Amino acid sequence: MSSLNFIHEELEKLKEDGLFISIRTIEGPQGAWINVDGKKVLNLCSNNYLGFANNEKLKSASKKAIDAYGVGPAAVRTISGTTTVHCDLERKLAQFKGVESTISFQSGFCANLAVVPAIVGKKDVIFSDELNHASIIDGCRLSGAKIIRYEHCNPRDLRGKISYEGNAERRLIITDGVFSMEGDIAPLPEIVKIADEFDAITMVDDAHGEGVLGKGGRGIVDYFNLHGRVDIEVGTLSKAFGVVGGYVAGSKNLTDYLAQKGRPFLFSSAVTSSDVAACIAAVEILMESETQVKKLWSNAALFQERIKKIGFDIGKTQTPITPIMVGDARLAKEFSRKLYEDGIFIQSIGYPTVPVGKARLRAMLSAAHSEDDILWAVEYLKKTGKALKILN
Ligand SMILES: Cc1ncc(COP(=O)(O)O)c(C=O)c1O
Repeated sequence: MSSLNFIHEELEKLKEDGLFISIRTIEGPQGAWINVDGKKVLNLCSNNYLGFANNEKLKSASKKAIDAYGVGPAAVRTISGTTTVHCDLERKLAQFKGVESTISFQSGFCANLAVVPAIVGKKDVIFSDELNHASIIDGCRLSGAKIIRYEHCNPRDLRGKISYEGNAERRLIITDGVFSMEGDIAPLPEIVKIADEFDAITMVDDAHGEGVLGKGGRGIVDYFNLHGRVDIEVGTLSKAFGVVGGYVAGSKNLTDYLAQKGRPFLFSSAVTSSDVAACIAAVEILMESETQVKKLWSNAALFQERIKKIGFDIGKTQTPITPIMVGDARLAKEFSRKLYEDGIFIQSIGYPTVPVGKARLRAMLSAAHSEDDILWAVEYLKKTGKALKILN
């Protein structure tokens, strides 16, 4: 017991530094307006980009799948078999992404933990953007490969660093597609060129690109028209797709290999059939129509234009992810708390999710928002930003 005393001290320190994460309770489905801790608030912090998390088609597909397949997978896929819906989803996703094959995982996090250690090991070198997501970082660490971080979105730095590592057996370049805390887009065309030149493997995590970038939300590879040029794409089904799960997209050889070597695939049960059926419905909607993706972008443009105009620093975002820079973690927390009182749910983000001194609010736009919602939020951000002297 006594050896766990440090936990209390650590928790107190987090509170002192303004870094203790308070998790709010949501009563009801996701959407533009949600009930949080007994209060109806405008939701500006979910990754429900397209409003699919409470979409009727997805819910109906999910309910039907429960009747057809029950609620649980009973064991991992390699032991108890896989359902037809899991196979259907993997086929549909391959079609959507324009790749030969996909393999699904329990989450985007698991997909990264599966793929990196399966592809590289002790004799290899990974080149990883310094702002890559935690799941990429953990996947890299698990692999045992040498990890070299290159400057954020800086192909020149990547080129310099890769040219020094001639003795590695394999070289793997990994980047987020859209950076989840900044909203900027990886320079994938330059990265692919460097990979070709140095015979490196390329991997992009498209968690915030799919449903957002490219034709009908097909993701970053489609956005840059790099089909067939990126070896490994990782995706998540928990953001724009509105459900849960992750996947890897690429060649049939790659996905066959991951079914043999991807440890989360081999040693953890798959997501439920009802989740998978909802994901299929999400992909089908995206393959039929670009309406939701377009609405997402017009909402993001309106919001970003207005809050920039009133003086907020929103960094270098190129996507609907909108950081509102504050700096100090305690001040960011206070900003978030006051906005909640005003009726806006928008979380502050501090270390370790972003570097120390770069705390921010992270506003997430969704196709579910109306123009009135956005204009209303901008007014309160202005009022509260001024009261806290974040704005002049
Ligand atoms: C870039 C990136 N990769 C992976 C993940 C993990 O996705 P999931 O929630 O499906 O585990 C996230 C989620 O925050 C992310 O932002």
